[in-house]
Amino acid sequence: MKKLAVFASGTGSNFEAIADACADGRLDAAVVLMVCDKPGAPVIAKAEARGIPTFVFSPKEYPSKEAFETEIVGLLDAAEVDLVCLAGYMRIVGDVLLHAYEGRIINIHPSLLPAFKGAHAVEQAVAYGVKVYGISIHWVNSDLDGGRIIAQRAFEYDGDDPAEVHRIGQKIEHSLYIETISKLLK
Ligand code: GRF
Repeated sequence: MKKLAVFASGTGSNFEAIADACADGRLDAAVVLMVCDKPGAPVIAKAEARGIPTFVFSPKEYPSKEAFETEIVGLLDAAEVDLVCLAGYMRIVGDVLLHAYEGRIINIHPSLLPAFKGAHAVEQAVAYGVKVYGISIHWVNSDLDGGRIIAQRAFEYDGDDPAEVHRIGQKIEHSLYIETISKLLK
């Protein structure tokens, strides 16, 4: 069975979707580690409730990104992780993690890339008056939200409420992430 690590910084609805798909057999995989850079984030309790090991850290307690990524790589190696799934991990992946895992790290992003990269994709798209929104899953490289696209799904929305776009988008994210992980693991 393949081993996944999920990295998240906040709510963790994608983490939950992936973990539950592993638990009920829709994904032939196990989440062996949840990495979180925000002590107190709701995703942590979701991992603990499922008995999934966590690594929760405060970046400011480390001298550098290299230092905490070295620790993370050690944990990924020890757990023999096959695929790293970034799911709302609000941090740019650095050289140490990329060097060790590039080609095995994917991210989910709430826009039709290459449009609207970065942390405020939905808000920017709404401000632009976008009518066709979407979700992208891509390989992670050193270019923020710029790695090769693996999967996308679009939806139409003609309004001005970013919260509504997030709500519609997140439902799509959960199923698209599971489908995409499943394909990649095969
Ligand atoms: C998702 O919208 C994802 O596209 C973005 O961060 C959000 C994470 O949401 N990268 P959640 O924590 O999985 O609920």
